[in-house]
Amino acid sequence: MGETGMMEELCTVTIHGKGRTLATQAPPGSSLYSLLTASGFAVNAPCGGNGTCGKCLVRVSGGSGGGDSASPVTEGEKRFLGDRLGEGYRLACHTTLAGSLEVWLPEADSDMKILSRGRAQNGPFRPLVGKTVLHLESPAQDDQTPHWERLMKAWRQVRKREADDLCGERQDLSLGEMKRLSEAVLGGVSTLTVVDVGGKIVALEEGDTSKVNFGVAFDIGTTTIAGYLIDFAAEREASSAVAANPQRPFGADVISRIGFTMNRPDRLREMNRVIVDGINGMIARFAESARIGPENIYAAAFAGNTTMMHFLMGLPADGIARAPFVPVTTDMMFLSPRETGLNINRNGSAVILPGVSAYIGADTVAAVLSTGMHKNREISLLIDIGTNGEIVLGNRDGMVACSAAAGPAFEGAGISCGVSSITGAIDGVRLEPEFRISTIGEGRASGICGSGIVDAVAELRASGIVDEKGRFLSDPSSLPGPLRERVTEISGQRAFILAGREESSSGTDIAVTQKDIRELQNAKAAIAAGIR
Ligand code: FES
Repeated sequence: MGETGMMEELCTVTIHGKGRTLATQAPPGSSLYSLLTASGFAVNAPCGGNGTCGKCLVRVSGGSGGGDSASPVTEGEKRFLGDRLGEGYRLACHTTLAGSLEVWLPEADSDMKILSRGRAQNGPFRPLVGKTVLHLESPAQDDQTPHWERLMKAWRQVRKREADDLCGERQDLSLGEMKRLSEAVLGGVSTLTVVDVGGKIVALEEGDTSKVNFGVAFDIGTTTIAGYLIDFAAEREASSAVAANPQRPFGADVISRIGFTMNRPDRLREMNRVIVDGINGMIARFAESARIGPENIYAAAFAGNTTMMHFLMGLPADGIARAPFVPVTTDMMFLSPRETGLNINRNGSAVILPGVSAYIGADTVAAVLSTGMHKNREISLLIDIGTNGEIVLGNRDGMVACSAAAGPAFEGAGISCGVSSITGAIDGVRLEPEFRISTIGEGRASGICGSGIVDAVAELRASGIVDEKGRFLSDPSSLPGPLRERVTEISGQRAFILAGREESSSGTDIAVTQKDIRELQNAKAAIAAGIR
């Protein structure tokens, strides 16, 4: 190569993830975090790679800190990792490449336990997708009505009995469907099923297909996605599923994810791609379980916070994160599956439910509708506890709503030993009459999830280990022996050990620290301020 074209020597990085190993190359100085996410590995990164959460733990080869193959250990890593640095652990977003490396991602974080059932209040069943079976008269010398007009006349006659308001509207059919109509009539087909979405005709199908009519509904949360397959013909829920939101490697909360995509169209595309891929994966599993094809699903409805709706549509959410906090849209949208990349019937519709503002999203509107509080005379208070807590107060005469930045403590993030609801996460704590913890899946303790930290702090308070201000006792000598032994000091702050290193799957103490209690207090205070 000439002097200006000197080829830079690339670093080879071999990545071992859950069930997958990949060897890839990148120039020296590349961020390990960016390399891992770009290679499709899920890194636990609640702060979205900003270096502030201390959770993007990986183990790298070459002894402590990857030897000369990785950038020097940062002050932040020393603070977050302590002794674990000596075992080869690094924080991916603090580490850049200096040579060839072997990297191991932690096993955890795959089997999230997500509650997906609850009590539903069922309203009248009015599916968005209608199917109308028509038996058309054949054209004849004395009836030269064009095919489309003939079909429309028959459709209006049948539908008029059901919904007057639908039938006066002008209808347009795509040219592709118009061709299909012509071929069907010329081929002697006399029975056709007309498919409409919200009263707008979108497709024609030969024969009577009225019994095969499905839709899907998704609630896209920042942490999890809940999905439902609805059999419109049978008027029932055919299947449901939950999954972790695949955008989690880009940040635990909406602000981290917006920060990740801000002024970066390539990252916005990636954010959109992972969520659409995740939804399509769930749709494929639904279709398989119901033994139907994705083309039998005509509508996909979405609720979620305003940022999640933006990422689903591939819209920049930058305006949501900075004053004056203006989203691109909170309107109800009917989008084509082709435009959104969703794998349902190509003539169907992706429906984005309406929101209210940048921080009162379609999920809050859906929650209000499903509780029916907007119809009640009595005043109700609705609280959606999460990274952002949405609060609605009101009745049929009017409502006020606000959003409180609770932070991710309720999801187990921002907590020193916090994990999401994965196998081994401590989800229950009792201190008296005797010390007891429960873990998800009854595995060895791997960290503390949101319900675990709430439980732990409540128990610490009840047993007097922390005072009413959330401060640890300065002198624990008055505590019973088994509890006293668990009070310790970690990195200069008081802490209470829930699982010692010999009992935990990570080989480190799992403890609640003074800072964790402050995090939980802040989260609770944010919700309380919203209510007030
Ligand atoms: Fe690396 Fe938060 S510190 S993702």
